[in-house]
This record gives sequence, structure tokens and C-alpha cells, in this order.
Amino acid sequence: MDARSGKPQPDWDPRSDTVLSDQIKAYDAMRHRRPVAYSDYLGWSLFAHSDVVRALDDHCTFSNIVSHHLSVPSGMDPPQHTAYRRLIERHFEPARVAAFEPLCRTISANLVSGLTRNTKIDLVAQFARLFAVQIQCAFLGWPASLHEPLLQWVRRNHEATLARDTRRMAAVALEFDGYITVLLEARRAAGAAAPHDITTDLLRERIGNRPLNHEEIVSILRNWTVGELGTITACVGILCHYLAKHPEVQQQLRGTPALLPAAIDEILRLHAPIISNRRVTTAPVEIGGRKIQAGERITLMWASANRDEAIFDAPDEFRLDRDPTRNLLYGRGIHVCPGAQLARLELRVIMEELLKWSQRIALIPGEQPTIAIYPASGFSALPIQIS
Ligand code: HEM
Repeated sequence: MDARSGKPQPDWDPRSDTVLSDQIKAYDAMRHRRPVAYSDYLGWSLFAHSDVVRALDDHCTFSNIVSHHLSVPSGMDPPQHTAYRRLIERHFEPARVAAFEPLCRTISANLVSGLTRNTKIDLVAQFARLFAVQIQCAFLGWPASLHEPLLQWVRRNHEATLARDTRRMAAVALEFDGYITVLLEARRAAGAAAPHDITTDLLRERIGNRPLNHEEIVSILRNWTVGELGTITACVGILCHYLAKHPEVQQQLRGTPALLPAAIDEILRLHAPIISNRRVTTAPVEIGGRKIQAGERITLMWASANRDEAIFDAPDEFRLDRDPTRNLLYGRGIHVCPGAQLARLELRVIMEELLKWSQRIALIPGEQPTIAIYPASGFSALPIQIS
């Protein structure tokens, strides 16, 4: 403990070059060295699967109210969370997700057929990001004119978050609100003539005995956008990189596409598309042998927990017969991802189309992928050749 600041001595620096140059490797090392570790930047990071699960299962002690900003529903605890969560889940019902498959397939097939064969492409810029933004806008009923502004917005949001620059983060959030407000106003003005889609449905939602207000709707849409854009981009990059590095898995999946759902979840267990999420303690706790006071920041390190050898035998191996209930890819407990079925559908369809269209996805000798830096995961550039 530092006598002057009253803060614990840092165990590590999450923004050091060593960590940022290969996050997955660095978090593996931390799980072995200091499974509950303090840093000024992230507070207390939990690296072990069992500690992350404990925090997820005890939402009274590990609260989601980590900031003063409205964040529906991820920044809420019960009972408030329960009411909003119920409302949100209605928009991700299996029938609605299943009904999206044909449009999802058209978008995927179009994107895949626009790729050039036998030449170097940056899979992230020319494919993954475009897929994420097109699929997001299609699901929500948003126009193509929003594709480019949304991509720029994700980039600025990422930069502000890494810098922990709260003024810039607030400004970036406001910028998002601007785009969405224009869109919502048009639908309000159209009344009954507004398009029949999820965004219009959300405008008509009620919480308790009143309609959702504008800030709540924007916050819900912002949460979905963050959930979808950055994460789906990261997933597609990670999946293609893995397949390019493991041609035998690629061939297995091309031959038996029915294995894709389990394979996707397993590859994303090996290499997490989301590094972490936050909590705050509401009471003193002891976890992993460390004593933590009330009101401390906690970071759940998905990227480490899902590679914990205490839970996953030979964690570096790709295995299709692992117990899926232990995979924390979509979280667990009351905040478990409500968009999981949608995300699974989107990833399955895009990978089906890509594998069907190609004979070989390969890395290019001498061309290194650029690993994304915190808070993003996956790759920021991925040179690939498809034949
Ligand atoms: C592969 C893609 C995705 C992954 C890996 C993923 C993962 C996760 C995880 C791990 C959580 C739990 C966070 C926590 O406990 O703090 C979560 C929550 C959430 N996700 Fe996703 N997600 C994905 C896609 C989506 C999509 C497509 C949407 C919506 C369009 C979405 C919306 C949300 C929302 C709103 C929450 C907060 C739920 C709550 O607090 O009750 N996610 N997601």
C-alpha cells in the first residue's frame, strides 16, 4: 500500500508496450504470476476463471454501476436492470433472430463475392469492418449513409477509451447521440408510416407505466452498437486468422460446415474478441487471497479466464468437445449477452459464405498481422490471400 495515496502498489502496467504488443500472451503470464492484480489504470483485474465466475455470480458485491453516465442495461444493477433487461430481450427473441438470416446471408454473400482472389487484402479493413457495420445497420433498419460515420465513430471511441480521456469519451458519446437523434426524429415525424423495424419498435417501448425517454433509447442503441461493431469486427478477424494459420481446421470446416457453431465458440475462447468488462465492489471482499475494499474498480479479464488451465485442459488446443457452459465468451449471470444468438447467427453465416467461396485462406509469408491494442482485441490489420 502506498502510504501517501492510500492505493495498493501496482502489480503491473496494462498499458506497457509488453502488454499491448501481445495482450493474450501478457494476460496468460499475469494469470500465472498474479491472478488478482492491481493497477492504477484498471483497478483490480481478475485473471482466473473461478474468480471471474465468482464476480459474475455475485452481482450484489460486484456492481455494474461503474459510472454516472446512463448505460442501459449494462451500467445497472437489479431491480432497475431487471426491468430494462426484460424489455431488451424481447428484441432478440429467437424468431426475430431467425427471421434475419436471409438478409444476413445476402449481405454476407455480396461482401464475399466482392473480395479479390489471389491477391493481398487487408481482411480487417476490406471485409470484417464492412461486414460488422452493414449487418448492424441492416438489423436495426439504419440507412447505408450511416456506415462510414459509424466506422469513424468506433475508431474515435476506441482512442478515447484507451487514453481514459473522460472529456473526449463524453464528446464521442454525444457525437453518436447526434446521428441517432436525427434518425429517431425522422421516425417520430413519420408516425404510422415509419419503417417497421427494431428501431421503430424501440421508440414505442414503455418502461413501467411510461414510454422510454430519448436518452434511454439512445443509450440502448449505443450499447448495441458497441456490442456489435467492434466485437463482430474483432471476431471475423480472429476467426480468419486462426483458419489461415490452421489449414487442417479450415478443411475440416469446409467439409463439415455443421461444425462451425462449436468451432467459432472454441476459436473465440482461445482468442477473446472482448478483453474485459468492469465492475465495482459494494463491500469489502477477499478474492484470490487479496483483500479488496468497498468502492474499488474491478476488471473481469475474459481474455484470460477463458484460457485458464484450471478449467480448460490443454487450453491452447482447439477442441470441439469442450463443455460449452464453461466458455465465458458471451458472459454469464444476469448480464449475459442478450445479443448472443444474433452474434452466433451472423458469425456462422459469414464464415459459411467465406468458406464456400474459397479454397484456401492463407497468411502471406513475411507480412505480419497488426495486433489490436486495448480495449480492442483481435487485429487492426490482417494481410491475407484467398484463393
Ligand atoms: C461476438 C459478439 C459478441 C460478444 C463476444 C459479446 C459478449 C458479451 C459479454 C461477455 C457480455 C457481458 C458483459 C458483462 O458481464 O459485463 C455482453 C453483454 C451485452 N451484449 Fe454482447 N456480445 C456480442 C455481441 C452483441 C450484439 C450483437 C449485441 C446487440 C446487438 C450485444 C449486446 C449486448 C448488451 C446490450 C449487453 C449488456 C447486457 C446486460 O448488461 O444485461 N452483444 N456481451
